[in-house]
Amino acid sequence: MKLLLTGGAGYIGSHVLLSCLEAGHDAIVLDDFSNSSREALTRVEALTGRHFSLYEGDIRDATMLEQIFKDNKIDAVLHFAGLKAVGESVQKPLDYYDVNVGGSVTLAKAMAQAGVYRVVFSSTASVYGDQEKMPLTEENVPGEAASPYARTKRMVEQVFEDLCISDQRWSVAILRYFNPVGAHPSGQIGEDPLGEPANLAPFAMQVAVGRRQSLAVFGDDYPTPDGTGVRDYIHVMDLAEGHLAAVNFLTKNSGFGVWNLGTGRGHSVLDVVRELENITGKPLPKRIASRRPGDTAQCWADPSRAATDLGWKAKRGLSDMLTDHWRWQEQNPKGYNK
Ligand code: NAD
Ligand code: UD1
Repeated sequence: MKLLLTGGAGYIGSHVLLSCLEAGHDAIVLDDFSNSSREALTRVEALTGRHFSLYEGDIRDATMLEQIFKDNKIDAVLHFAGLKAVGESVQKPLDYYDVNVGGSVTLAKAMAQAGVYRVVFSSTASVYGDQEKMPLTEENVPGEAASPYARTKRMVEQVFEDLCISDQRWSVAILRYFNPVGAHPSGQIGEDPLGEPANLAPFAMQVAVGRRQSLAVFGDDYPTPDGTGVRDYIHVMDLAEGHLAAVNFLTKNSGFGVWNLGTGRGHSVLDVVRELENITGKPLPKRIASRRPGDTAQCWADPSRAATDLGWKAKRGLSDMLTDHWRWQEQNPKGYNK
C-alpha cells in the first residue's frame, strides 16, 4: 500500500516508517521538522535501502495537502504530526488547538476531497486522566481530560468518530499509546528531544550518558508498591508493529475503532532506574523530589481489545526497551546533532 505519514520524521513516526518500508509498503513523509531532524529520514533510508518521497511543510497547509493527494495515489494516512508537550500545552493552548485540532481537521478535509478515507491517528493514554481503577479499558474515558494537550487529542478522536457516523466510507483507527520508550535495535534512530527532556526514559538516559547531573524522582509517597509513579512503558518497535496491524485492519473493516497500545504491565520509576543501572553497569545519580503537578499515581492498559481485533500484542519488556534506548543514547550522545 501507499501510506502517507504526517510527522514521519519524529520519534514514533520514524520507527513506524521503517517498519512500513520493511513490510513492503510505499511511504510518503510530510513533516515541517519543527521537532525532528532530516537525519532521521536519511538513516531510515540507509537502514531499509528504500527510498520514499518527502514533503516539507505544515499539516495546516490545505494547498500543499491537496497537491500531495494529487501527486500520489494514497491508500491510507498515518497521522503523527502534532505538538506533544503537556506542560507547554498549558502555557500555549492556542498553538495546541491550532496544530493538533485545526491541523487534523485540515487533513481530514483534504482526505475526503481526495477520496482517501483510511486513517490511523496517534492518540494518548492521557485522555484517561486521573483514574483509580486499573487496567484502563478503551471505555474508561472520563468527561474531562487532564491538560489542553490531552483535550486536543480527545477532540480529534471525536472529530473522526463524527466523520465515521456521517459517511460510511471512513475507516478510522484511534491508537492510544501508553508510554513509548526504546529505539530501533540498530541504535541508528531513536528519541531526540529538543532541550530538557520532559519524560522519564530520555531524562534518565541523558543522566546515564553524562549530559545531566541527576534524575529527579517526582514523588515517593504515591499509593504504589514503592511509592513512585507506575506506568505502562511500551517499546517503540511494538508500537510500530501495532500500526502495521491497524493499517491491515483498516483494509478489511470500515467505521471507527479505538485501541490501547500498551503492554498491560506497570513499572515504577525505581524499577526503571534499577533496570537502567543493570544495563549500563553503573549507578544512576538520582534524588527524590516533590510530585510533579498533574501526575497520576498509576496508569496501565488493558490491551486485550488490540489482541482480539488487530491480532497485536507487545512482545518486548522493560529490559528490551531500556537496552535499545541506551544503545541509541550511547551511540548518539547528542542525538542526531552528533
Ligand atoms: P515527535 O514530536 O517526535 O513527532 C511529531 C512530528 O510531527 C515531528 O517530526 C514534528 O516535526 C512534526 N510536526 C509537528 N507539527 C507539525 C505540523 N504542524 N506540520 C507538519 N509536521 C509537524 O513526537 P512523537 O513522540 O513521535 O509523537 C507522535 C505522535 O504521537 C504525536 O501526535 C503525539 O502527540 C503522539 N503521542 C506521543 C507519545 C509519546 O510519548 N511520544 C505518547 C502518546 C501519543
Ligand atoms: C507524559 C505525559 C502524557 C504523555 C506521556 C507520553 C504528563 C503529565 N503526561 O506521561 O500526556 O502521553 O508522557 O510518554 O506530562 N518522572 C520522574 N522524573 C522525571 C520524569 C518523569 O520521576 O524526570 C516520573 C513521573 O512522575 C511518572 C513517570 O516518571 O511517574 C513517567 O513520566 P513521563 O515519562 O513524563 O510520562 P507520563 O507522565 O506518564
